[in-house]
Formats: sequence, C-alpha cells, structure tokens
Amino acid sequence: MASTQKHALIVGASRGLGLGLVETFLARGWRVTATQRKPSPELAALSSDALTVETADIDDDASVSALHGRIGAQAYDLIFVVAGVATQAHDPLHAVPREVAAQVYLTNAVSPIRFADAFHGTLAPGGSIAFMSSILGSVGLNEAGGWENYRASKAALNTLARSFQIRHGASGLSVLLLHPGWVRTDMGGAEADIDVETSVTGLTDVIERHLGRPGTAYLDYRGETLAW
Ligand SMILES: NC(=O)c1ccc[n+]([C@@H]2O[C@H](COP(=O)([O-])OP(=O)(O)OC[C@H]3O[C@@H](n4cnc5c(N)ncnc54)[C@H](OP(=O)(O)O)[C@@H]3O)[C@@H](O)[C@H]2O)c1
Repeated sequence: MASTQKHALIVGASRGLGLGLVETFLARGWRVTATQRKPSPELAALSSDALTVETADIDDDASVSALHGRIGAQAYDLIFVVAGVATQAHDPLHAVPREVAAQVYLTNAVSPIRFADAFHGTLAPGGSIAFMSSILGSVGLNEAGGWENYRASKAALNTLARSFQIRHGASGLSVLLLHPGWVRTDMGGAEADIDVETSVTGLTDVIERHLGRPGTAYLDYRGETLAW
C-alpha cells in the first residue's frame, strides 16, 4: 500500500525559521528532507527516522544540481525555499556596495526561483512550491521605507514567483509566497514581535490549508492575504 505520509523539502534549515519549520512538520507527522550549507548542530539534534539532512548552497548551481542528483528521484508534497539574507539591510541603497546589493538580489530572488525550476519535476500532484517572502516585499504596503535593498529583493522574488507560476500554469501549479511575521531570529533580531514557534506554527497551518491550490497566493503566517 502506498504511504500517505507527506514529504516536505525545506531548503535553508540550519537555524531560524527553516529549523523551526523542520521541527513543526516532523511533529505533524510529515517526512522531511532538510538542507544546510554546513553542519548544523541544531538540525542534527532533531534526529528522527523521518528526517533526512542534506547539504546545498542555493547560490551554487553545481551544488543544487548535485542535490537533485542525490534526492531528485523522490516526490515532495512541499518544496519550501526558506533561505535568505539581509546583508547591510539597514543602509540606504546608495551606501550598499553594488556587489553586496547584487548578492542580496541573487540569494533572495534569483536563487530561490532557479532552485524551484531545478526541483519542479519532483513536486507530487496536489503539492505546493513555497518561497519565504516578506511583507517588506509588498510595494503597496511600503509606507515606512527602510530596508531598501532587502525590500527590493523580496519584491523581485514576488514578481519572479508569479512569473514562474504562470510559466508552469498549465499544470495548475500551486505557489505560496509567505510572510513569517517579524520573528526573533538572527535576522529578525531580539526586538522582533514574535518567537519562531508562533511563526512556524502559523506558517504550517497556512501551508496545510492551501496545499495544492492552483495559482499564486501571498499570505502572512496568520493566513491574511497581503497586497502586492
Ligand atoms: N526573521 C524575520 O523577521 C523575517 C521576516 C520576513 C522574512 N524573513 C525571511 O525568512 C527566511 C529565514 O529567515 P530567518 O529569520 O530564519 O534568518 P536566519 O536566522 O538568518 O537564517 C537564514 C537561513 O538561510 C540560510 N541561507 C542563507 N543563504 C543561503 C544560501 N545561499 N544557500 C542555502 N542557505 C542559505 C542560512 O544558512 P547558514 O546557517 O548556512 O547561513 C540560514 O539557514 C529568509 O528568507 C528571510 O528573508 C524573515
């Protein structure tokens, strides 16, 4: 008899939200394949028969291709690219060296979509591809300014994800762009609004509710639709 256990591929799970998502999906009975760039003691500590830990850097095409070679024969109900960076996020754009600005764009916008293209064929029927966006990626909701280059990278991710979904639209692909809230992680800082558990519990609820729905949805961790 075929297994009904769902399988998530969580990309960027060494710490922060990715790590929290792995823990939550495991607790909900999912099988999880989680990626790290280098050995993560926190991820290793989640040791479970349902967890497979892999290594990949989403900025490195050869690394993503090698990962596909190792695990691309499996089918995933969820492919979630969580990895992201916020280098010099507090500086106005003119104060960020061009190479730094470009690298943030590559890691936050280009690499997640390239990863999704590489793994698209592994998505199980009724599954979803999710990207970790941010409310800061909303052009319409930008009333406070700040985080200029990071905002632009997440707005670019939103645009590229919609185009990715349209390109694969004939298959009724389900794409989720998710805002986790402002969360106390290395990136979010100690002053952030919510803890990792609150965020990942909400995100996992939202994902389970929307799994497989055709189209692109831009949602926060409480399930609210965000303006583009
Ligand atoms: N925290 C917030 O308030 C907040 C709000 C909105 C959106 N987000 C988004 O949520 C995601 C996770 O953020 P976080 O708060 O958990 O940040 P974090 O604690 O800084 O963790 C970032 C994660 O991304 C991984 N990563 C970075 N570059 C990578 C690459 N090239 N290839 C593979 N993995 C890479 C890191 O791996 P290493 O350990 O190897 O560096 C780490 O696992 C990001 O996309 C972020 O933009 C966060």
